Amino acid sequence: MNKIAQLWRIAMHPRELRLALSGLGTRLGGDGAMGGLTDEETAALVRWTTDSGVSSFVEIGTLFGFTARAVAKGALARVVAVDNFCWNPFGLTSAQHESFTRRVVADGGVELVRADAEGFLGSLSQCVDPSTSLVFLDGSHRYEDVKREIELCVAQKVRILSGHDFGNGRFGVTRAVREVLGEPDEVCGMCWMKRLHNG
Ligand SMILES: C[S@@+](CC[C@H](N)C(=O)[O-])C[C@H]1O[C@@H](n2cnc3c(N)ncnc32)[C@H](O)[C@@H]1O
Repeated sequence: MNKIAQLWRIAMHPRELRLALSGLGTRLGGDGAMGGLTDEETAALVRWTTDSGVSSFVEIGTLFGFTARAVAKGALARVVAVDNFCWNPFGLTSAQHESFTRRVVADGGVELVRADAEGFLGSLSQCVDPSTSLVFLDGSHRYEDVKREIELCVAQKVRILSGHDFGNGRFGVTRAVREVLGEPDEVCGMCWMKRLHNG
């Protein structure tokens, strides 16, 4: 059986795949960085989206789309998932990665956009109304990239900004968040959230 078919069989049980992804990094590198959120982190994203009453949730770096799908199921918001398909933990080609992710989100109420984070965020208002959006950053984890993405979201007047891997010492996320925004308003697991504007 080829890789895509094997993954598709696993994807029939999305919770198991999400948990496997969040645990894989811990086992391999000790930092939980292989992608995928815990149940608790996913629930926090749904709660932040729902409680703030935003009309759109935008995920930058969707990997296989499981988090986006969970938010679409749990929150009354339009869900846009963005990825340039440059990385995945299974060694799929970029085309295989995209095709698998499109299958995962096909019936899940998620709009999947193939784009680079910086280009997409620079023209965010062409896709959603930033002032009624929550943007979740989980693409590149390099300090320079995360800082640039946060600055673009601030410039676009995004209502709520969040992301993953806050407190993860291997990446530049924590430094970038603190330098541009100060301390987050809330942290759940490694997910952070900051309210930039009131609704
Ligand atoms: C850690 S995974 C995301 C995990 C996902 N948010 C989840 O909850 O399952 C990182 C993803 O970001 C994508 N990515 C990395 N750099 C990117 C960039 N500059 N623009 C768009 N996507 C990017 C990778 O292709 C990968 O799919």
